Amino acid sequence: MDTEREHLVAGEFGLRSDLLYLNHAAVAPWPQRTRRAVERFAQENVTTGALHYPRWVETETRLRQRLATLIGAPSPDEIALLKNTSEGLSVIAWGLPWRAGDNIVSSDEEFPSNRIVWESLRDRGVELRQVHLDRADPERALLEGMDENTRLLAISSVQYASGLRLDLQRLGEWCRSRGVLFCVDGIQSVGALCTDVQRDHIDFLVADGHKWMLGPEGVALFYCRAELRDRLRLHQYGWHMVEQHQDYELREWQVAASARRFECGSPNMLGIHALEASLSLLQEYGMAAVEEKVLENGRFLLDAIGELDRYELLTPTKKSSHAGIVTFRHRHLPGEELYRRLTREKVICALRGGGIRLSPHFHTGRAVLERVVSLLAQW
Ligand SMILES: Cc1ncc(COP(=O)(O)O)c(C=O)c1O
Repeated sequence: MDTEREHLVAGEFGLRSDLLYLNHAAVAPWPQRTRRAVERFAQENVTTGALHYPRWVETETRLRQRLATLIGAPSPDEIALLKNTSEGLSVIAWGLPWRAGDNIVSSDEEFPSNRIVWESLRDRGVELRQVHLDRADPERALLEGMDENTRLLAISSVQYASGLRLDLQRLGEWCRSRGVLFCVDGIQSVGALCTDVQRDHIDFLVADGHKWMLGPEGVALFYCRAELRDRLRLHQYGWHMVEQHQDYELREWQVAASARRFECGSPNMLGIHALEASLSLLQEYGMAAVEEKVLENGRFLLDAIGELDRYELLTPTKKSSHAGIVTFRHRHLPGEELYRRLTREKVICALRGGGIRLSPHFHTGRAVLERVVSLLAQW
């Protein structure tokens, strides 16, 4: 099976050979099958327009099923296809019935998508508590930040800058037992790690497809636990979100029973074709095997960079506290200078959280990681 898997990967990634691509936490390169799916879709649009639209809907249906499987959702009815993480979080924040005095607990290191949306509720008397995630026990810091007025915990599964990974199961169990809603920005883990919304008692999970899911920007996974669907008041309406959305003559309508109610109009069919192809690769390879490789690559970098005296790791080294992101800084060189040098050597990475962020995926070869470490060792 392992050789079969390696064979699968070898034919799928066509990165230019001079590039050391370690930036999946930003925007991932596509697999070849995604390029082919987009080319086929474009060709079809040119030659036959939407003549075969029902087939496009089949692809859309397959994507919903793949996403449900990817995150362990009980049914594709719990999945909506939205534009991006920010939109999904906005549907939740502006859909829930808040009361003045409620609070939301989050961390002080969230990506702006998972901060601004909650801050936008300030006018309604809702407080956002941004807890500092102390590295000894970050989950405890979050739990201790809650009180009897806490209605929701909003947290990233993996922090975008430091790469800190949280124990979602521990957080979810605690939230569920106290009636606090658990909302996860999963963009830095879905597609990299096995995800199970049921095991982890996740109420809402949102993630755009262009990072670890290897898809394009602009098609996001939105999961809402079925029991909570009616708690979210809708703010966008259109033909696509009603129950009988293919009957345009019907004057009486109800909102769709499924999570399709969160999709107001025509879907992003181009993005849907691309993301469906990308996920088919992850799922053929197997998410358990993907996770193993992602963690192995992260581990390799943590160990190798940790041995270089001139560097300080900003990502936690404990096995359960990291995923695919490894962030570090040079003890003497400013981050911008290190970034400039890496970029000159065609290392595709990011400057984040006061350091350099490397983010290899499951398909990243060991030779690429070794080359980056040997460059770092020279400086
Ligand atoms: C944790 C996290 N959330 C959200 C986003 C992006 O949000 P959106 O999908 O709305 O563009 C990023 C992108 O870097 C991220 O790292």
